[in-house]
Amino acid sequence: MILIQTSTPILISQSVETRYLCNMNSLSTQIESLKKEIASFSIQNAKELEAFRIQFLGTKGVVKNLMAEMKQVPPEEKRAMGQLLNEFKIFAEEKYNTAKEQIDDGSGDDKPAMDFSLPGNALLSGSRHPISLMRNRIVEIFQHLGFSVADGPEIEDDWHNFTALNLPENHPARDMQDTFYVQQEPAWLLRTHTSNVQIREMEKGKLPIRMIMPGRVYRNETISARSHCFFHQIEGLYIDEQVSFADLKQTLYFFVRELFGQNVKVRFRPSYFPFTEPSAEMDISCMLCEGKGCSVCKKTGWLEILGCGMVHPKVLENCGIDPQKYSGFAFGMGIERPTMLKYGIKDIRLFSENDVRFLQQFTGAY
Ligand code: DAH
Repeated sequence: MILIQTSTPILISQSVETRYLCNMNSLSTQIESLKKEIASFSIQNAKELEAFRIQFLGTKGVVKNLMAEMKQVPPEEKRAMGQLLNEFKIFAEEKYNTAKEQIDDGSGDDKPAMDFSLPGNALLSGSRHPISLMRNRIVEIFQHLGFSVADGPEIEDDWHNFTALNLPENHPARDMQDTFYVQQEPAWLLRTHTSNVQIREMEKGKLPIRMIMPGRVYRNETISARSHCFFHQIEGLYIDEQVSFADLKQTLYFFVRELFGQNVKVRFRPSYFPFTEPSAEMDISCMLCEGKGCSVCKKTGWLEILGCGMVHPKVLENCGIDPQKYSGFAFGMGIERPTMLKYGIKDIRLFSENDVRFLQQFTGAY
């Protein structure tokens, strides 16, 4: 007995089924159902094509088996039944050849068709993060003034983040810079500003210093649209002989005009930082209302942009620099705020949510 492999197994030969083949009517019924099976046979790729060939056209396939049965057909029926079988064979071969052609020319699943007239698949290009755009721009401006870029650790010790900066333990100004401590090593903390890099650079003892320090900083603050527990800063440090407050003002004035446009106005307000003396906050005229007063500048016409001052002699001493011989200025600013102003971003949390819909708006931005 031969069992032909089809989805509805068809038994032919020796026993009952042989009689089917010997009978013209039953052969045509059988062939009709085989044809239906062939028609619905899915051939999408080379693997399915081969499966079809083996099942229907192979040496042990349906066609060959039916042909073999012809031996037992009475001579008077042979001609008609042979013809029927031949037609069936051609039917199966046609299905095979058409499918093979399609697969070979690439219109099957295996090989996608190559249509050179179609537009190409656009490559998704990433974009710079708006914070990086702003940082790069600020770095570029200061590089024109001869500043180089310095980097330092985000996990810092108390000395470099606080004490060396004239912020000893229990100093009230530490309250404004509450931060996160490392559980396994409480002497380590997440830096609250990039001023730690100022200390590390001064400790190296190579003078003069003309550097900017961009980086990420951390504070234990409630997250809202305007504040976050981490953000970015750029600080600057210039130490040499006879550096004065006039140098500080001129440098920062040049910087803001480059960044916000030549018409921007600046003002310095006296302030307090333990690491600078004298200290100041620098404001720029609000570029949104041109100084007239709006909701962004809280109707004052001014925007606070950075803190600055002359490096405190105690800080120089802490780093082994002689304050009698050397003086210097320092400044520090957040990067988020000017970025929000420049691009009209209303919520600081957008910077760290990694939402592509937000980020892709900066493709090609500068
Ligand atoms: N470190 C200060 C802060 O994070 C910013 C700052 C102010 C840095 C004045 C300075 C400076 O270098 O001179 O609030």
